[in-house]
Amino acid sequence: MALRIKRIEVEGFRAFRSKLTVELGERFTVIYGPPGSGKTSIVRALEFALFGETREVASRLMRREDLVNDFCDKARVAVVLAGGEGEILVERVLARSGASRLRVVEGSNEFYDEIGEHHLRSKLALTLDDFAWEIAVGHQELQALVHSSPSVRNRVLDELLGLADIRKLYRELSGKELKGYLKALRDELAKLGGESLLGKYEELKAKYRGVVSERDALARELEKLEARRRLLLEEYEALRARATEVDQLVEERGKLRALLESLGDEKLAKMPAVDESYVREYAERFKGELAETLELFYMGEEAEGVRRVDASNLASLLEVSRSAMDKMRSYMVRMEYELKDIQNEIRRLEDYINDLEDEMAEIEARIGELEHSRSEYDALVTRHGDPVSVAKKIAQLEVDAKALQAEEGRLRCARELQEDVLRQLRERGTATCPVCGSSITDAAALPRVEPPEALKLKRERIERMLQDLREVERKLRKLEPELRLLDDYESRRESLSKALDERLEELQELRASAEELEERLREARRRMAELARAYEQLDSYYKRLRYAELQEKLKELEEEIRRHGYDENRLNQLTRELKEVENRISVLKAKLDMLEASERQIAGELSALEAAVNSLKDLKKREERVAGLYSNLMAVRSALVEAHVKLRQKLVERLSEIASGIFAELERSSEYDAVEVQVQSAGPRGRRGHYVFRVRRKLDGSYVPALTRMSDGQRGLLALSLLLALRQLKPRSFAVLILDDPVPNVDEDTKVAIAKLLAEKMPAGLQVIFTTQSRRVAEELSPTAKLIAAGAAKS
Ligand SMILES: Nc1ncnc2c1ncn2[C@@H]1O[C@H](COP(=O)(O)OP(=O)(O)OP(=O)(O)O)[C@@H](O)[C@H]1O
Ligand SMILES: [Mg+2]
Repeated sequence: MALRIKRIEVEGFRAFRSKLTVELGERFTVIYGPPGSGKTSIVRALEFALFGETREVASRLMRREDLVNDFCDKARVAVVLAGGEGEILVERVLARSGASRLRVVEGSNEFYDEIGEHHLRSKLALTLDDFAWEIAVGHQELQALVHSSPSVRNRVLDELLGLADIRKLYRELSGKELKGYLKALRDELAKLGGESLLGKYEELKAKYRGVVSERDALARELEKLEARRRLLLEEYEALRARATEVDQLVEERGKLRALLESLGDEKLAKMPAVDESYVREYAERFKGELAETLELFYMGEEAEGVRRVDASNLASLLEVSRSAMDKMRSYMVRMEYELKDIQNEIRRLEDYINDLEDEMAEIEARIGELEHSRSEYDALVTRHGDPVSVAKKIAQLEVDAKALQAEEGRLRCARELQEDVLRQLRERGTATCPVCGSSITDAAALPRVEPPEALKLKRERIERMLQDLREVERKLRKLEPELRLLDDYESRRESLSKALDERLEELQELRASAEELEERLREARRRMAELARAYEQLDSYYKRLRYAELQEKLKELEEEIRRHGYDENRLNQLTRELKEVENRISVLKAKLDMLEASERQIAGELSALEAAVNSLKDLKKREERVAGLYSNLMAVRSALVEAHVKLRQKLVERLSEIASGIFAELERSSEYDAVEVQVQSAGPRGRRGHYVFRVRRKLDGSYVPALTRMSDGQRGLLALSLLLALRQLKPRSFAVLILDDPVPNVDEDTKVAIAKLLAEKMPAGLQVIFTTQSRRVAEELSPTAKLIAAGAAKS
């Protein structure tokens, strides 16, 4: 049976200093009293007793110690609950320090503090929040229902409709962990390589199989080859045994063959056979020619040596002639060097002669130029004499000129004196002799003085001659060095021409000896070439003779060996075949080794991969399982959503129905007569949704949004209607409804109507407690309710 409240005892709690005991009615109790009389304090006392705190303390609007009356040290609250198996006493003491103690008594059992708390919780199955919204509802809660934001309203209504649990379950079933796990599994799978790893694994397996089968095939082939080798070896050994018997013969034959080979086996085999006597004759001739040529080369001693050789011994003749020819070749080389030296000397001499000729030409040119000066000089000498006689003449003429000049001076002086005497005579008839001082009176007596002009002319002629001679002397002096230079050039020309003649002679000689040497060299070369040809021929004859001889011998030996039953061809064939087989075996072995190594490597890779593949498979299984679980969970979730939507729809319809009935009774203005709660869905499949209140307007019968149309009082009534409807929709194990002055902002009549409705229309099992400030309301209900006047215990 559901729990009810039988009695509440309060002391030292909020409004109550002294002790107050409130005995509550079975069905309906009205607690009335003016403001501050302690009505709400009684409700809070009940709350404190049941939960150890009040909604104000829980939401930190008040400290716990504020619950203790200011005039008391501690508060004590006790509640007696009835129903179930018996009465339960719940008692709490709260010290001013904030410490509190709990005692729960049920029958003969007493529980304290923590254990008591535990016991109490199990009995009530309620939280403080549930208590505030469903059991002890105040004006604030109802206001919140119609005034709060849509999200708060949603939360509250979901909670009150019992849908919150479903939503919580839905949230809890989000599968977040499962999804995370799934993702981790998939990541792990991806890290391991996923499908590609399996592909790689299969590929590797196929490769492994391929390698193994190839290796087996190879091993089989190898076995066959080994068998063949054994057979060949047996035969080979037998033949080898025979071979040792004819070992010496074979060795000899080998030597013979080597000899033949050294003779130029193949070429000789193709040549025709030669006549031995013809060869001997040829050798004799060759010898003679060789000796002769050696003599030509001034190698008399060697020529003697050659003559001494027996021409029938071709090998020694060839050897001696080879060395002699070598010597001749080196002699020829020496001659070539010598010739080169002479030619070099000729070139050098020619260069020198050219230089001399150039110099000579230059000197000749100089001499040509100077010859002119000489002829000028000679002409002057012929006319005027050599420079010495010219100088003498000049000296003579100078003396003459001077004498004439003196004579002329004397004459000029005498004439002046005579003229002076003549003037004296003319003027005075007498004159004094300027020489002796005697007096002269006769002009005729005066000596005759010649005029100086004749002298002057003579002197001037002499001076002209003198001038010419000086000019001649100057020219001669000027020409003298050139004549000396000419002499030098001429003597140089002489010596040059002499040297040139000598050099030309020398060159002539050199050219002659070069020609001679060239001639000799040509001859030597011709002879040598002839000799070389003859030598080649002789050598070829010798080889052919020798070859025929050796072939004969070889044939004999072969016959001898065959007689001993030794088949060399077979042995060679066997050796070749054995070699081939062995080569093939070694190739196969190498291949087999390689294959085995790769088999080992692949096996290692496979085993490493196998572990990864196993864990991949395991992971895949797990991933499939988890994915299954996850999709199941998602299905459950969506089923839950659907159930939630449906249930909510149903609940809302029912709620609208019950609330409409209650509202119609309380709304006394007769403006509205029905309430409808709707869910306006948002989000996928109506998972979420806002609760919307609509009311039917009587006037036109249409539903209008309640919260935007109605008055505060009307809204309070709407909230109360909804709350009462909710309480009926969802019964509680604690069958108590306390309405602490739920709609204060309505008129007295409406309050009476509310109280009456509570007294009469509530379900029979519900204990209702209603507080009001109005004495009239309380008195109106007196016949059906237990009335408790608050305020008596306040002081
Ligand atoms: N710690 C306290 N010590 C002393 N008095 C207190 C204490 N706490 C509250 N009161 C008094 O208690 C009274 C409030 O009581 P309460 O809220 O129960 O009144 P009410 O009857 O519900 O009033 P209303 O009708 O206005 O709601 C006030 O008069 C206040 O002074
Ligand atoms: Mg109050």
